[in-house]
Amino acid sequence: MLTLPEGYGVRHTRETDHPVIVDAIGRWWDTPNRAMLGLLMPRLFLQFFTRTSWIVESESGEIGAFLIAFRSQDDPSIAYIHFVGVDPELRRAGIARGLYEQVFETMRGLGCTEIRAITGPFNKRSQAFHAALGFTPHGDRDIDGVLAYPDYDGPGEPRVAFTRAL
Ligand SMILES: CC(C)(COP(=O)(O)OP(=O)(O)OC[C@H]1O[C@@H](n2cnc3c(N)ncnc32)[C@H](O)[C@@H]1OP(=O)(O)O)[C@@H](O)C(=O)NCCC(=O)NCCS
Repeated sequence: MLTLPEGYGVRHTRETDHPVIVDAIGRWWDTPNRAMLGLLMPRLFLQFFTRTSWIVESESGEIGAFLIAFRSQDDPSIAYIHFVGVDPELRRAGIARGLYEQVFETMRGLGCTEIRAITGPFNKRSQAFHAALGFTPHGDRDIDGVLAYPDYDGPGEPRVAFTRAL
């Protein structure tokens, strides 16, 4: 269940959230690859996937977290979580867990039986989070101490791939 801090609420994303989310990505991520992270958030995700995406915001309209997910067009039994982020000030309070559980429930309701996600081998926090949520990591070699696929998203862009039954 999604339990939010006092004064915060959750709603589906809308297209006008785009500049707010892009700005949050610039402020919240501590990786050296922020430009690449910005490219992960083209406007289309807020035009075509809003029914399976959510934003957490304060009463005054400050963004606290977001999650972008969708169901596969090719295989409707598979759901995919594209992107999740929580304000560093609000982390370790169960917000991402609650958002993921909301996605699991929504996707089960749509008939999905599996959910997937990816992350970078350097992103140990994300790996710990996905392990805690019951995801299995996949890769075909050791990269930075974890199983990952090299060049998964292009040259020099390795990823750990996660799957979880719904
Ligand atoms: C990964 C992220 C989304 C987790 O959000 P969160 O709201 O802090 O996560 P939760 O509080 O729901 O954590 C659920 C569980 O995941 C695990 N976990 C989360 N963050 C962790 C960390 N930094 N270290 C170890 N375990 C962690 C814990 O088991 C935690 O349960 P616990 O707090 O009861 O021990 C957040 O750290 C974030 O926004 N990171 C930057 C963006 C990112 O890397 N996104 C994922 C890849 S796109």
